[in-house]
Amino acid sequence: MDLKKMFGYENKNVVITGAASGMSKSACELLLELGANVYAIDINPISLPVKKAIVADLGKKEEIERVVLELPEKIDAIFLCHAIAGYKGKELEVQLVNFFGQKYMTQLLLPRISDRGSVSFISSVGGMGFEQCYKTCLEVIDINDWDEAVKWYQAHPDIIANSYVFAKQCMNSYVTSKCMSKEFIDRKIRVNCICPGYTLTGLSDDFNKSSSPTGDALEGKEMIENMFIKGWNGFAAQPKDMGYPLVVMGSDICSYMSGQVIYIDYGLTSNWKHNGLLN
Ligand SMILES: NC(=O)c1ccc[n+]([C@@H]2O[C@H](COP(=O)([O-])OP(=O)(O)OC[C@H]3O[C@@H](n4cnc5c(N)ncnc54)[C@H](O)[C@@H]3O)[C@@H](O)[C@H]2O)c1
Repeated sequence: MDLKKMFGYENKNVVITGAASGMSKSACELLLELGANVYAIDINPISLPVKKAIVADLGKKEEIERVVLELPEKIDAIFLCHAIAGYKGKELEVQLVNFFGQKYMTQLLLPRISDRGSVSFISSVGGMGFEQCYKTCLEVIDINDWDEAVKWYQAHPDIIANSYVFAKQCMNSYVTSKCMSKEFIDRKIRVNCICPGYTLTGLSDDFNKSSSPTGDALEGKEMIENMFIKGWNGFAAQPKDMGYPLVVMGSDICSYMSGQVIYIDYGLTSNWKHNGLLN
């Protein structure tokens, strides 16, 4: 059995965002190993030997539109992986970077994605419970115009107050709602996301600071570890624990998988649900 052929990335055009660091960088390394032509985008410089590295702020409409012009006409898989932590005062930016910009870029690239291609996102365990606010998320998902989306967010400060969580809930809702929508299903383009648990990456320090009411990184770290690690005497994930499954999800190996929101957290949230700690 030829493993590279099974993945199906050899000589295929693959677009990946957030590839300067963390999970996306790990995914990018595997994609290169599997022979993909990788087009990588990040706000920071990308060190990997990809086919094309583009520096851009994907929280800005004009930057996304510029990037799209620099990408190939035919694309086989896209991976939307970039995000920022949810700081107070940055609620709108978090929505645009972590969800709406990713949806906007996906919609621009969809016509170029080959039949039976794939769209994969990195969401988060933070997006859990999206089913409860699905209808609200659909309101955002149904907006195509950038300025309209900004207006919607500005009109709903209470909803975006929990900024990181709401953006990831929108992402989970997008995957669930779009898998059977015309633009995806007519050409059998698969759409899925992974929801990572606590992972040590470039974002960890920001997560620590944003989790503490006083912005204290040590306090935030302790709070996060109490929630995600202590209960099962566990350990934090490494970037490849998320990046590698992401690459599998977007590959031909998962050719019959779409609309899935997959929690990769060593069973923590599954256990919470089983014990009635979550809906
Ligand atoms: N680290 C965790 O514990 C954790 C848990 C759940 C989900 N996630 C998600 O995993 C994904 C990957 O993050 P990571 O943890 O590997 O962090 P990371 O910081 O190592 O990687 C994120 C990358 O996104 C880039 N980026 C940020 N803003 C951008 C912008 N506006 N335009 C372009 N690029 C931008 C950063 O430069 C960085 O290279 C994110 O979607 C994050 O929300 C992380």
